[in-house]
Amino acid sequence: MKKSKKLVVGNWKMNPQSLDEAKKLAQAVKRATRGLKKTDVVVCPPFVFLSPLTSLSDSPFFLGAQNANYEAQGPFTGEVSYTELSDFKVDYVIVGHSERRKMGESDDLINKKVRAVVGGGMIAILCVGEEARDSNGDFYNFIKHQITSGLKDVSKKMLDRVVVAYEPLWAIGARESMSPRDLLETSIFIKKVLKDLCGTFSDSMKILYGGDVDRVNADSLVRDGNVSGLLVGRESLRSKDFIEIIKLVDSI
Ligand code: PGA
Repeated sequence: MKKSKKLVVGNWKMNPQSLDEAKKLAQAVKRATRGLKKTDVVVCPPFVFLSPLTSLSDSPFFLGAQNANYEAQGPFTGEVSYTELSDFKVDYVIVGHSERRKMGESDDLINKKVRAVVGGGMIAILCVGEEARDSNGDFYNFIKHQITSGLKDVSKKMLDRVVVAYEPLWAIGARESMSPRDLLETSIFIKKVLKDLCGTFSDSMKILYGGDVDRVNADSLVRDGNVSGLLVGRESLRSKDFIEIIKLVDSI
């Protein structure tokens, strides 16, 4: 069976401050992806930088958005629809990032976005993750609930267009990533949840890890945590470090 590719996603959040910096960063990453055989790379800039970067999009370098509205069009001031994004050579959309959940996005809204994104032919990166870990393991139920509600009514045939990004909130933006051993336990759990939910269709679904990923922990998180790739925040803004992370993952 052909081994599926790894995936490294850079979430730029509300950075950088100028189009010039955005172009330089994206071009440097794109250059470094030439010759990658085993890894796809996605950068997710703010909406305003997507259009000037579309000409760079070419496998294995892809563009992603950080959010999308599930309505195709209409009176939604300040929003960008999934149809507008797919028209822009955007292949991936981050859905349900914890920073957006904190702004009030509900499980129901996130599910609508997942369905719109995959229905629009793009790949949804569904973010899940607990705020804190408790000794009873209740956080596992929390993760399960987020996955189950995120995937509600998503046609099984479209599940290969969903990537689950596990990002424990306590690790995001922190200086405390998860131990690869704990990640392994959690990735096994997530695979089981997906299997119970989607049967063999879950075989094609990738699981990523995100939260304080850097060039020191990247290799071990993917290798020992047994995930298909990484969702990288801060370090994706430093081209040298991000490229090193990509190369480490590609060599696994
Ligand atoms: P971080 O962010 O790598 O800066 O912790 C990850 C994310 O929020 O996706």
